Amino acid sequence: MPIFFNQKTREFHLQAKNVSYIFTVLENNQLGHIYYGRKITHRDSFLHLYTIQKKTYTATVFDDDLTFCLDTIKQEFPSYGTTDFREPAYQILLENGSRITQFEYKGHRIYQGKLKLDGLPATYVEQEKEATTLEIYLFDPLIDAEIILQYTVFEQFNAIARNAKFINHGKENLILTRAMSASVDFFDAEFEMVHLSGSWGRERYVRTRKLSPGIQSISSTRGTASGAGHNPFIALKRPGTNEHQGDVFGFSLVYSGNFLVQVEVDPYDVARVSIGINPFDFHWLLESKQSFQTPEVVLVYSSQGMNGMSQVYHSLYRTRLAKGIWRDKERPVLINNWEATYFKFNEEKILEIARAAKELGIELFVLDDGWFGQRTNAKTSLGDWVVNKSKLPNGITELAKKIRDLGLYFGLWFEPEMVSKISDLYKKHPDWIIHVPNRKPSQGRNQYVLDFSRQEVVDYIYHAMVKILDKAPISYIKWDMNRYMTEIGSARLPANRQFEVAHRYILGVYKLYERLTAEFPDILFESCAGGGARFDPGMLHYAPQTWTSDDTDAMERLKIQYGTSLVYPLSSMGAHVTAVPNHQVGRITSIETRANVAYFGIFGYELDVTKLSVEEKDKIKKQITFYKQNRSLFQKGTFYRLQSPFEKDGNVTSWIVVSEDQKEAVACRYQVLGKPNARYERLVLKGLRPDYKYKIEGIPSFFYGDELMNAGIYLDNVVLAGKLQYGDFTSQIFKLSNLA
Ligand code: DGJ
Repeated sequence: MPIFFNQKTREFHLQAKNVSYIFTVLENNQLGHIYYGRKITHRDSFLHLYTIQKKTYTATVFDDDLTFCLDTIKQEFPSYGTTDFREPAYQILLENGSRITQFEYKGHRIYQGKLKLDGLPATYVEQEKEATTLEIYLFDPLIDAEIILQYTVFEQFNAIARNAKFINHGKENLILTRAMSASVDFFDAEFEMVHLSGSWGRERYVRTRKLSPGIQSISSTRGTASGAGHNPFIALKRPGTNEHQGDVFGFSLVYSGNFLVQVEVDPYDVARVSIGINPFDFHWLLESKQSFQTPEVVLVYSSQGMNGMSQVYHSLYRTRLAKGIWRDKERPVLINNWEATYFKFNEEKILEIARAAKELGIELFVLDDGWFGQRTNAKTSLGDWVVNKSKLPNGITELAKKIRDLGLYFGLWFEPEMVSKISDLYKKHPDWIIHVPNRKPSQGRNQYVLDFSRQEVVDYIYHAMVKILDKAPISYIKWDMNRYMTEIGSARLPANRQFEVAHRYILGVYKLYERLTAEFPDILFESCAGGGARFDPGMLHYAPQTWTSDDTDAMERLKIQYGTSLVYPLSSMGAHVTAVPNHQVGRITSIETRANVAYFGIFGYELDVTKLSVEEKDKIKKQITFYKQNRSLFQKGTFYRLQSPFEKDGNVTSWIVVSEDQKEAVACRYQVLGKPNARYERLVLKGLRPDYKYKIEGIPSFFYGDELMNAGIYLDNVVLAGKLQYGDFTSQIFKLSNLA
């Protein structure tokens, strides 16, 4: 029974495999938080853990009780202005200018399964027994408004999903000025905050800082995306927690737009985590009978360090967030023409690449940007989704058929949310872009953001895409998005709803994804945003894979993929072998190292394969065979980070992926620079069965799992055929198989 309720004390105990989350209804009928952490045995009451203390210089709720001050009580979904001075979970502006509300516990419901969220992506169940949901009903009679807090316990995954819904049952207009998805008050602030921050070309670097008094936060204000600056995720870990042991609490928001994750450390060292839509530049008008649904946040606690937390996110997101037939299917090895041709191609060139790719064993050809309108550079034609006849005189359908005839699947690039000023669409509908009256809209990559808060704009793009998808045999879509929002406004919305544009836009994007994935269930979607600026759980719901970064240099990718793996499974990370010198950083790395990095993701190539030497072709054929042989392991295995590029001098990174039955594994160790007269090195593995005997390809003899996980592989003693151990940009891959 994962959710207990004690009617007498009005306590809730949410319990998953290894976690307990406990809260109660307070004397004033609001909710008080009691405990979140490692699973504790259920008992009738935990009220003895509830802390209340008289502090000096506070305000109190009751006139005759000088202890009941919300500022010193841990809370579950706090408001501001009624004795709590910390930042709240929500705030509502009333018609009379007051921001004071009083939502009190009215009742609750516990049921098996999980309901869908209105218009938003979320985790789901396939069978009701997979999860139990608690709905708490809070009510403010003065304004006749309700908040429903939803908690879903995924018992086996060891995760709790939360969201909040605001409903205006009354007559007056309410304005939500802050509507976070969740708030958690921790007992203390002895934590380090881990977050994933960066920029284009270096997305999701792992950053760690000690919590200190005041507010520390990460956010997006970019409108169209969660952004490359920060990922909608933080973890709080206890000092001393590493990849393999220690307590860590993860918070991951299933959302693709403006978000905020903040930790406020108060004067009593309580750490309050708030996570949800960014309240900056956000108001939402709730007219009578209207409701507002917040995005979902997924809480994961692990006592098994950062890897333990990541593995929960990986399995939950891979199997119960991503949806559709491609969720479980092995993904094809693809070739993308972007870095091979950029905008300069014609049908002949594309077919030439496709033919060469087929010979190498590649399964899917993806035609990237430049196939439509007058698009010969990034200045024109977004929005005009009709084929460019001077490049592809026979059209997309014919090209797709020819590629299918070669024995390859065909995939196509779109950037549905954008329009170029030089386009027929813009000429016809200049007011369809995000803009405000009488101000010049700023450009970004010479393009403008279509106003997806408007139904007719989403409909138009839907029909334009369907026109192509209906005729051509298309198996894959790369859905790109290459600019952030500026001058945010919609020509359709009234003045008092202009603050809603950014969120309504994201809802429009989700609507289009929902329609296209429903109508074309066989198409594999890959999301992309100028590289990895929209690598978030919201996108993952519709598109089971995301382009991780435009930076494809193998050494750079170590950091990017390592950071991304904190939350996202290998099955979600697009990873391609590209040409050298690398187009982003100019570095030359071996074809082996480039593949050894890309295997740990959704493997593909993005270079002109017609220009390869015979020797390179031979190597690539072998790489593709190796990936196909181990594809299910890479895409579905349990991933452990072993050595971090963000620790020590960052010179060595290593990781391993292990099959569910622990009989197969692939580990890889990467070294940035060679060192003279180097120290001894070993690679200590994880996740194996201690008593299994493993054979490592290329190494005579065998090893027991416990030896590999304690003594490790002594790298100086194993010479793998043809592999440099101490050079620059080197890597050694180890394929392990259980010897029966
Ligand atoms: C940005 C993407 O990240 C690239 O892979 C490529 O598709 C370009 N856009 C095309 O314009």
